[in-house]
Amino acid sequence: MRRKIIAGNWKMYGNLAMAQDLIAHIVMHRAAGMHVIICPPAALIPMLECDIQDRLGLGAQDCHMEDEGAFTGNLSAQLLASLGATHVIVGHSERRQYQHESNQDVCKKAQAALRHQLIPILCIGETEAEYDRGQTEATITTQLEESLPKKLPPERFILAYEPVWAIGTGKVPTPEEITAIHETIHHWLAKNRPQAGTIPVLYGGSVKPDNAREIMQLPGVDGVLVGGASLEAGSFTAIMEAGEEAAKA
Ligand code: PGA
Repeated sequence: MRRKIIAGNWKMYGNLAMAQDLIAHIVMHRAAGMHVIICPPAALIPMLECDIQDRLGLGAQDCHMEDEGAFTGNLSAQLLASLGATHVIVGHSERRQYQHESNQDVCKKAQAALRHQLIPILCIGETEAEYDRGQTEATITTQLEESLPKKLPPERFILAYEPVWAIGTGKVPTPEEITAIHETIHHWLAKNRPQAGTIPVLYGGSVKPDNAREIMQLPGVDGVLVGGASLEAGSFTAIMEAGEEAAKA
C-alpha cells in the first residue's frame, strides 16, 4: 500500500478558532493509508503546532527566496521552519498570476525551502489558453525544466499538477488527461532527476468528495492538493477517506 498524500491549501481563509476546530476533526479522521498536510495562512503555523504534534504535516503557502533581508511583508523559509512548518507550497498559480512569479523565482524559493529542511510542494500547470491551444505538455515540460532545482535530496520533494483552469472552477480534466500528464511528469523526473528517488505527484484543481476517489485511483496520482474543499471538516475528511480507500485499492 502506498500512502496517498492529502494536502489542504487554505489560501487566505480562516482564523484561529476555525483552524483549531478543523484541525481537531482532521486529527480524529487520520488513518494509516494517508499523509495529511495542512497549509493554513502562515500566521497560524506556530499556533497550530501543538494541536498537530507531528500527526500531520504543516505547510506554508509561500516563502521568500532569500534567508533574510529588507523585504517588507515577506516570510523566509528559515523563519517558517523555526515556527514548526514542515512543508511549503511554491509556485502556486495564484502567486504566479498575482505576484508575477516566474519559473526562475519558483526555483529559488524551492532551493530556499530545501536549505531549511522544508519539503517544497511545487505547483505546475497550464492556463486555459494553453490548454485550448493543445500546449499542456509543452508548458509542463518548460515549468519542470525551469522551476525544479537541479539538485533534489531523495524523498524530500513533492510536485503538484494543477491546471490553472481547474482551480476553483468546478472544472476537472478527464481521467485520461490527468493520467497522461502524470505519466509525462513521472517520466520526465525519472529521466532528469533520477537521484531524487520517487517524487510524489499530486493532482489539484476542483478536487471534491465526489471525485477524489476516482482521481486518486488513477495511475501516477500520488495524492491531491485541495483548496476550497479543505476549508470544511465534512468535505475534507471525506476526501481523506477517499484517499484511504484509493491506497487500499
Ligand atoms: P481548488 O483549489 O481545490 O479550490 O480548486 C486548488 C488549489 O488552488 O490548490
